[in-house]
Amino acid sequence: MDRFKIHGGKKLQGSVEISGSKNAALPILVATLLTDETCVLHRVPNLRDVRTTLKILEYLGKKVEYKNNTVTITANGPLKNNLPYELVKQMRASFWVAGPLLTRFKKAEIPLPGGCAIGVRPVDIHLKGFEKLGATCETKAGNVIISAQKLSPAKIVLRFPSVGATQNLLMCACLIPGETVLENVAKEPEVDDVIAFLNKMGAAIYTDDKGRLVIRGQHVMHGAEHTVVADRIETGSFILAAAATRGDVTVQHCVPEHNSILLDDLQEAGFTLTITDDSVRVHPYDGPIKALRVRTAPYPGFATDLQAPWMTLMTLCEGTAEIDEDIFENRFMHAPELVRMGADIATEKSIARVTGVKKLSAAHVQSSDLRGGFALVMAGLCAEGETEVERVYHIDRGYENLEQKLTALGADIVRFNPDKNDF
Ligand code: UD1
Repeated sequence: MDRFKIHGGKKLQGSVEISGSKNAALPILVATLLTDETCVLHRVPNLRDVRTTLKILEYLGKKVEYKNNTVTITANGPLKNNLPYELVKQMRASFWVAGPLLTRFKKAEIPLPGGCAIGVRPVDIHLKGFEKLGATCETKAGNVIISAQKLSPAKIVLRFPSVGATQNLLMCACLIPGETVLENVAKEPEVDDVIAFLNKMGAAIYTDDKGRLVIRGQHVMHGAEHTVVADRIETGSFILAAAATRGDVTVQHCVPEHNSILLDDLQEAGFTLTITDDSVRVHPYDGPIKALRVRTAPYPGFATDLQAPWMTLMTLCEGTAEIDEDIFENRFMHAPELVRMGADIATEKSIARVTGVKKLSAAHVQSSDLRGGFALVMAGLCAEGETEVERVYHIDRGYENLEQKLTALGADIVRFNPDKNDF
């Protein structure tokens, strides 16, 4: 299994181009199941989760071509309406094919996604929504079978603004003629990008003055071409890595307003930023990093996906910072690894108290999820000496060309596989 070896202590310097958003690309790829016509998607990041999604589309019967970040998806005979566990267990977001398959075939059979490292992650909000639209959901031998004689438009109030459930129900409602209204929906930029794509496919979706999503369902959806929005989590990750190494980095081709809270917090912590319409420059800063209190929340709140890299920054603050993880119940697995690198962190339930230390020390650490893995890489970049980060496959799920991008910023990071003796 691949590992990173990092010689830390170098300030990141230069500029970095942000890739297309993983979390927008995945549901947009899935949305192509709503049509037999050709869809062309640009700026699709070459990531493990994207490749898994393409495999899923191929399994279901699509023909997929992926070249230079552009995916062309065409019909290749009739579609299947079920997925094997092998594909679902690789990526929880596989469950999102349920909405398009249900609406097209009135039946979808998908293995229930199990727990994952960051929590239980149930799909009850998705299923309740499908039931409101007229489906019945039953679980048999680990599979959920969702079926309907007829689907009808409905008013659905989500008990929590789940990103995945909002997207799944949106896709499902697109092919139910009539008006479906979704209330208490996720407002993440990735949801907006999915809506933009669905509207290009012929859907009629808008947000009303109460913030509800109104979907005027169609009889048929068409092929469309779309460029995926910039990845705000990758953007935030590079901004935080630049800050933590006290570097001077311009993050380009991003949408700074998607990271408003993070940028405000960083400035409050002491950093100077220059923000344009599509770039953020982190200026060199050697002063104290102010300890702040942040609490993760649905967008536009502090992104749970940036909580781990933020924690790495706060390990170097002055005083004691507090992080309240309110979205996932078990998202501090990076904390004990950061402690092994000299950080002072105490966690209790959903709260982490991070007391700043003068410096981090290099260590052999293990990533156990995607964003936590990046937080460890960031810590390795800050710590003097040689850090080894194991289980890079978690990080490969969500950061395109990470070591190349970091190397171009002056970092000393290499990938190696001890099992292959290639180092
Ligand atoms: C998406 C993102 C993930 C991000 C998360 C929250 C993708 C591929 N992943 O995940 O990176 O961390 O949003 O911003 O886009 N929940 C339920 N029942 C449900 C659905 C969700 O209880 O039916 C709970 C989850 O367990 C979690 C919370 O709601 O505690 C948020 O989950 P959700 O917004 O659905 O996250 P995902 O869409 O899975």
